[in-house]
Amino acid sequence: MKILVTGGAGFIGSNFVRHVLTAHADDAVINFDKLTYAGNLENLRDVETDPRYRFVRGDIGDRAQVLEAMEGVDAVVHFAAETHVDRSNAGAAEFLSTNVTGTFTLLEAARELKVARFVAIGTDEVYGSIAKGAARELDPLNPSNPYSASKAAADLLARAYWTTHRLPVIVTRSSNNFGPYQYPEKVIPLFITNAIEDKPLPLYGDGKNVRDWLYVLDNCAAIDLVLRKGKEGEIYNIGGSHEVENIVLTRQVLHLVGKPETLITPVVDRPGHDRRYALDSGKAHGLGWKPTHTFPKALEATVSWYKEHEAWWKPIKSGAFRTYYEKQYQSR
Ligand code: NAD
Ligand code: DAU
Repeated sequence: MKILVTGGAGFIGSNFVRHVLTAHADDAVINFDKLTYAGNLENLRDVETDPRYRFVRGDIGDRAQVLEAMEGVDAVVHFAAETHVDRSNAGAAEFLSTNVTGTFTLLEAARELKVARFVAIGTDEVYGSIAKGAARELDPLNPSNPYSASKAAADLLARAYWTTHRLPVIVTRSSNNFGPYQYPEKVIPLFITNAIEDKPLPLYGDGKNVRDWLYVLDNCAAIDLVLRKGKEGEIYNIGGSHEVENIVLTRQVLHLVGKPETLITPVVDRPGHDRRYALDSGKAHGLGWKPTHTFPKALEATVSWYKEHEAWWKPIKSGAFRTYYEKQYQSR
């Protein structure tokens, strides 16, 4: 199969490209990525000489670039997005242009070229905060922040292309991913690398918000299965089934890095901060998928990866790197 992966230089996309090239000897991958601040070709240094892999720098909002890259592919797996909630709260313009208009451009091109499979990567954030129980695929969408609203728009648009045009779209909605190559603005890599550097860990609000953590390699296996065995027009929730309060997660990270809890620094809450996400992943389990990595082992492996790969994250965190809260504090 020849697969066009959008956003393949980012966190999940790069892990997915590596997964496909490793698991499927007959597959070829075109990685189409704009290389925004979050895209990093270092993530794929180990596969760049593989003759089955090709990188194309391009913007999913550019119709001509998209048509050229998509010509002749069997499937599209669409990861490219602006992904950080705090950035969307600070300014949402690029979230709309990339996540909504960019997705529209890809869907139109896929329709024109009659692509046989289009997997749109969505998020559990589209369901909004879930007080009790777990979201199912046909539950109403109720996004809270500009990022999740833009992802809900993209998700609904993709589904509309199935309903109206019979473009063979499948949507996955996953919970919070963690693992190697995650940009250190997201809570797990930020807290691991801050702890390594003896910097404060800025914990939002009361620290009791809950996220359901999924190891990135388990998500890649699920997306791969959905790509090959999923049913056209369907949505698949992909959850880690491991809910943790942020304060508990923070203590676990500090314990694994071997640093004191005095580094925990409560800060004012994120505006519109969703309290809890939870997914019912029964449908993906029905396809034959289950996470194979336990949370404690995967978190330990992730901490080890960041300890062993300072050369990957130190350049990112030096220079102009500031977290959303550091920027806020500086502007006061
Ligand atoms: P990321 O921020 O690490 O990477 C995004 C990638 O998209 C980067 O390589 C970037 O250069 C590229 N990109 C951005 N704008 C582009 C454009 N206009 N054209 C082409 N490429 C562009 O993201 P991630 O965390 O790997 O997330 C990947 C996808 O998975 C996103 O759609 C995200 O919404 C979804 N998702 C992420 C998580 C998570 O926990 N990280 C959970 C659920 C869903
Ligand atoms: O749920 C899936 C989503 O997970 C994806 O769709 C998003 O792309 C991804 O960024 C992630 O969103 P979150 O907002 O859940 O992730 P983040 O790592 O930003 O925050 C996780 C939790 O940690 C959240 O409750 C906010 C908190 N947090 C985060 C940061 C960056 C802190 O307490 N301090 C921080 O500095």
